[in-house]
Amino acid sequence: MSETWWRGAAIYQVYLRSFADGNGDGIGDLAGLRSRLPYLSDLGIGAIWLNPWYPSPMADGGYDVADYRDIEPSFGTLAEAEQFIEEAHALGIRVIIDVVPNHSSDQSAWFQEALAAGPGSAARERFWFKDEPNDWKSIFGGPAWTQVPDGQWYLHLFAPEQPDFNWTNPEVHQEFHDVLRFWFDRGVDGIRIDSAAVLVKDFDGGDPEGYTDLAEVHDVYRSWRRLSDEYDERLLIGEVWFPDQERFARYLRPDELHTAFNFDFLGSPWDPAALRASIEQTIATHVPLGAPATWVLSNHDVVRPVTRYGRANTSWDNGNRRDGVPSDLELGYRRARAAALLAMALPGSVYVYQGEELGLPEVEDIPDELREDPMWHRSGHAVVGRDGCRVPLPWSGDETPFGFGTGNPWLPQPEAWKKVTVEAQQADLGSMLNLYRTALHLRREWLVGGGITWLDLGPEVLAFTRESGLTCVVNLAADPVRLPPHESVLLASGSIEGDELPSDTAVWLRTT
Ligand code: NOJ
Ligand code: CA
Repeated sequence: MSETWWRGAAIYQVYLRSFADGNGDGIGDLAGLRSRLPYLSDLGIGAIWLNPWYPSPMADGGYDVADYRDIEPSFGTLAEAEQFIEEAHALGIRVIIDVVPNHSSDQSAWFQEALAAGPGSAARERFWFKDEPNDWKSIFGGPAWTQVPDGQWYLHLFAPEQPDFNWTNPEVHQEFHDVLRFWFDRGVDGIRIDSAAVLVKDFDGGDPEGYTDLAEVHDVYRSWRRLSDEYDERLLIGEVWFPDQERFARYLRPDELHTAFNFDFLGSPWDPAALRASIEQTIATHVPLGAPATWVLSNHDVVRPVTRYGRANTSWDNGNRRDGVPSDLELGYRRARAAALLAMALPGSVYVYQGEELGLPEVEDIPDELREDPMWHRSGHAVVGRDGCRVPLPWSGDETPFGFGTGNPWLPQPEAWKKVTVEAQQADLGSMLNLYRTALHLRREWLVGGGITWLDLGPEVLAFTRESGLTCVVNLAADPVRLPPHESVLLASGSIEGDELPSDTAVWLRTT
């Protein structure tokens, strides 16, 4: 098995419109990102994954793509995207972009053509137009079908502004092959595949979820893999949410995707048995396939870990976000620090979502009228949605927009964030930022290759050794535990007294 770059990479997720604003309009952009590349390089990451950067009406934060071969004007230009790729490469940072194959924007040329061409046209065959809808529901709430003026209905598993493609149509396959080549030819190193398991539909089986994980979807990824193999070291990573590991593993067969996000780990409660089971299960699933595991604690769709881990129920469930459920943020913060050291010590690649390295909590008090997430609008305001983890980053200074840019940020930042700006944390040795930074650098030296060997320090402690001789110990018990014999402490998520590791604390020890 070749040691390709992604096998042990630390990949930083950039939600572009909230990362850094270069032109003062309150929306993050490529100029902002380019100006912060030194920050990312110093942080010690090996790759950046950007959420969709294409022209988009932003009905779903860019996951409604109007043109797969260009850049959203408020983010910049194609020429700037190319410059960004070059600059990232010069710093040794790879670039992963998001491709959205399940649906486009209703403003895409194809969908507009389909609307104009009318029923029975070839243009409508690229989407799912029917005379009668079935009873499928949209994942964002409400029906999955919208009627157009001539009486036909089109399918959208997400918002009405996101019509689903018809993957039985060879033209759709051809289009995405061209899109992949377009970006690979421009130096993009990897593709994150949005909603990867739902492309193929079965309307006749009577299943209310007759779109999840149908056999033909694997043919799509086999062909994408053949295409990506024509290039040098290009990564395909799938967004595949499945509790069923056996079905999840099918996406990682040697002729399909290289990796997929480990949402099982992300969803695990802060509980030693559950975390251990998830880690063991993950390793057992990946090792036989020769596929690297991924370790994910957060992304732009889920409540931030600091808030999640401070709640009574610390697990994550897409269907029950627990928005507004009280959280002990101090406890959540301590656990999020420990979780970071756990995730970064495990074999495989690790994903860090922007702001995770600052320990940002979920912003739960965004005024309703400023909320943008279609989940909020489509659920009739029953689900608060995902805006709270997408608030523009605080970089510096005492006043909003905290160096994000010069204009009013598209979502308001909490006043309290003056304490957690990048600038403030850089100056504080014990900050979350310095924990991530140190861990990411140590990881490069200590945590490449090999598996893990568990140590038994009792049922409420996770402890394992890597081949390098680094031992990670995480104490999930209420009381301190005694550390195993070691030469030195490389890094700890909290203060250690003597040889006692406090509750909700993790440590990396040098044991050889
Ligand atoms: C998954 C993306 O991560 C999410 O943000 C988006 O809303 C849906 N797919 C639909 O594209
Ligand atoms: Ca801007």
